[in-house]
Amino acid sequence: MERSLNIFLFLLCLAIMTPTLNANILESDEYWKEERPEFDSYWQERAKVAKQDNHAAYFPDPYAVSGNFTASISEIIAGKSTRRNLGGGKGGECLATNPIDRCWRCDPNWANNRQKLADCVQGFGRNTRGGKGGPIYVVTDPSDNELLNPKVGTLRHAVTRNGPLWITFARSMLITLQQELIMTSNKTIDGRGVDVYIANGAGFTIQFIKNVIIHGIKIYNIQVREGGMIIDSESHYGIRTRSDGDGISIFGSSNIWIDHVSMRNCSDGLIDAIMGSTAITISNGHFTDHNEVMLFGASDSYSDDKIMQITLAFNHFGKRLVQRMPRARFGFVHCVNNAYTHWEMYAIGGSMNPTIISEGNRFIGPENKFVGKDQINAKEVTKREYTEEKVWTSWQWRSINDEFLNGAFFVNSGPELKNRPFSRKDMITAKPGSYVGRLTRYSGILGCRVGQPC
Ligand SMILES: *[C@@H]1O[C@H](CO)[C@@H](O)[C@H](O)[C@H]1NC(C)=O
Ligand SMILES: *[C@@H]1O[C@H](CO)[C@@H](O)[C@H](O)[C@H]1NC(C)=O
Ligand SMILES: *[C@@H]1O[C@H](CO)[C@@H](O)[C@H](O)[C@H]1NC(C)=O
Repeated sequence: MERSLNIFLFLLCLAIMTPTLNANILESDEYWKEERPEFDSYWQERAKVAKQDNHAAYFPDPYAVSGNFTASISEIIAGKSTRRNLGGGKGGECLATNPIDRCWRCDPNWANNRQKLADCVQGFGRNTRGGKGGPIYVVTDPSDNELLNPKVGTLRHAVTRNGPLWITFARSMLITLQQELIMTSNKTIDGRGVDVYIANGAGFTIQFIKNVIIHGIKIYNIQVREGGMIIDSESHYGIRTRSDGDGISIFGSSNIWIDHVSMRNCSDGLIDAIMGSTAITISNGHFTDHNEVMLFGASDSYSDDKIMQITLAFNHFGKRLVQRMPRARFGFVHCVNNAYTHWEMYAIGGSMNPTIISEGNRFIGPENKFVGKDQINAKEVTKREYTEEKVWTSWQWRSINDEFLNGAFFVNSGPELKNRPFSRKDMITAKPGSYVGRLTRYSGILGCRVGQPC
């Protein structure tokens, strides 16, 4: 009795601290009954095209992609380890410590060669080109007052133009979005060289589109906004219901690469990917101060999320995170070389038979907590939600060469990977923990300066 009361009190504390506990809006039936936008014919058409694009972006043999990714990390670590490029950030040094960064950060001329970044993505999002080939659009105006006819020079004007655009920023700026920022295909948002903060308003919506790169911006304190009439492409606007309060919401979209973002404290997820979204890489991110960090697939009845393929690489899941790094349904998640330094409930979870390959990550278990006399132990990395063991025991959740500190442990299930696609794995095995520290050392936004290696 006392025990259950204590656990109750503990949960109550958590619930007070994290009001959205287990309550991602997208997971509630009410959302799908009432809140889900009734798409007009314009959005129905976009949905139809996006569905074809998403299926085209799906890799029938995901192991081949994740295998290639791992091999290239091994090459960096094993082949070039004698080349010290890990200096302390004094001017002129290249600080790249992982294969994605090495592709562009060492180029002192990166600022005149920004679109080179589009060649650097790896993992499931590897075909993402963003706005490559299009003109540079320089955002000069941080305001967001015009939702139907945004001013030239604003971010909303930029992301709603037709055709590919590479969007940069004239100077450091804080942008408070009055309503969700509805993006269009073939765009790169590139915050390198200045400090771009998206904060205290609505977040990004990537809905029924393809080919988006978001790089080098900070997103925090994102709130639910009530919706209304909002421009959603150069020649269309329409009524939108409440936005979810996600930092970045990926909805029925493919070929998305999110790199070097810093994110914290959004009212729903930091990054959610749902409704058949696929071909996504989230890399070099730094995430803190949040309850439900990433949700991949929101509905138990939406089995189209089987095509969802997402790579999480070189991210730092940092201070004051609670759970869902990620929480997946149906799809395939390759979680590679991430540093998990803080979680309160669990790190990686899911339901509905997702495949999770956790490789070369470093997991540092949380301290046991005492609530009264009861010890709350959250050292298990994994959590199978709402499923009996006899069911989840066949789900393929495998840990390979992960490093576990402070009592952290991963509960494997499903078939072992026998014919392992991960070639040259031993090179990464040697000291996985210390590699993760190096590989994720520059996660989040970078302080790149024009004219110097970054
Ligand atoms: C993996 O790499 C090999 C050799 O570089 C290449 O032939 C193959 O197409 C790649 N596979 C995928 C799925 O990218
Ligand atoms: C995006 O770019 C691709 C390749 O250039 C092009 O085929 C496609 O039509 C573009 N999509 C949109 C919606 O502009
Ligand atoms: C988190 O964001 C909300 C909404 O913007 C804000 O009211 C709150 O103060 C933020 N919390 C922290 C710790 O920054």
